[in-house]
Amino acid sequence: MSLQIVSPTGGIAPLLRADGVSLEYGHTRATHDVSFDVYRGDRFVLLGPSGCGKSSLLKAAAGFVKPAAGSITVNGAQVLGPGPDRMVVFQEFDQLPPWKTVLENVMFPLLMTRRVSRHEAGERAAHWIAKVGLSGFEHAHPHTLSGGMKQRVAIARALAMQPEVLLMDEPFAALDALTRRKMQEELGRLWEELRFTLLFVTHSIEEALVVGNRILLLSPHPGQVRAELNSHQFDLASAGSAEFQAATQRIHRLLFGERRSDTAPDRGASQAPHGRSAAP
Ligand SMILES: Nc1ncnc2c1ncn2[C@@H]1O[C@H](COP(=O)(O)OP(=O)(O)OP(=O)(O)O)[C@@H](O)[C@H]1O
Ligand SMILES: [Mg+2]
Repeated sequence: MSLQIVSPTGGIAPLLRADGVSLEYGHTRATHDVSFDVYRGDRFVLLGPSGCGKSSLLKAAAGFVKPAAGSITVNGAQVLGPGPDRMVVFQEFDQLPPWKTVLENVMFPLLMTRRVSRHEAGERAAHWIAKVGLSGFEHAHPHTLSGGMKQRVAIARALAMQPEVLLMDEPFAALDALTRRKMQEELGRLWEELRFTLLFVTHSIEEALVVGNRILLLSPHPGQVRAELNSHQFDLASAGSAEFQAATQRIHRLLFGERRSDTAPDRGASQAPHGRSAAP
């Protein structure tokens, strides 16, 4: 069993911590004072409308964007740039170099970081390609694959690096509804097996409930924390249930609706410590 960092208070320290993060592009403030903690094995979702800074926060966690104020730490070390401990899967299907085969795409980061020999990189890549259900397509080029298959390659490429955190920015948003559902299901299956830590961005309330065990709600202009919710009780099987519908409507109200008295406790829960968030 791996050692876990324990904070001075005796609790388990978060794997990834965003502490008062403000992000700016020139004079545009994309997020203001956003804080959240992601624990090992979490499926942590950033949810909010367009422009609330979800992608910007993910890019900051990836190390592509530097906070104007606040900090992001992973295992207690400040994020100062991109690293193999934080692999990213984007929405765009063109994130795979088209001149490389599926196998070469998955091998590429392994070889770049000189973690393993070429032989071992090939074996590891084949293993992860099988895990995402693409055995037989190792020598195919990306343009011969469907959108869902390309996203599977991107997921295999990221997981093959065994990152501390898998960062996903609307990875299924450009897929048709059926494929999207299938990919959500397969991501859930992979998580059940591997228990990786996931930071997942979406603007879909349903997807947030299905994918996440914890959801951070953000409001836009600039992006700020609106509430934090537990959602571990939901999955694809429960989608459509009365409880799921009620949670969807409640989140919708929190994001877009008037501030009704029954939403008041959530504001207090916005910075709730691990395990004590408001249930939807
Ligand atoms: N490269 C950039 N240059 C200037 N402004 C930017 C840049 N990227 C994002 N912004 C601004 O920062 C704010 C947050 O953008 P961001 O893309 O993080 O939002 P988002 O929540 O991911 O939105 P969406 O759901 O549309 O993807 C927006 O006001 C946007 O215009
Ligand atoms: Mg975005």
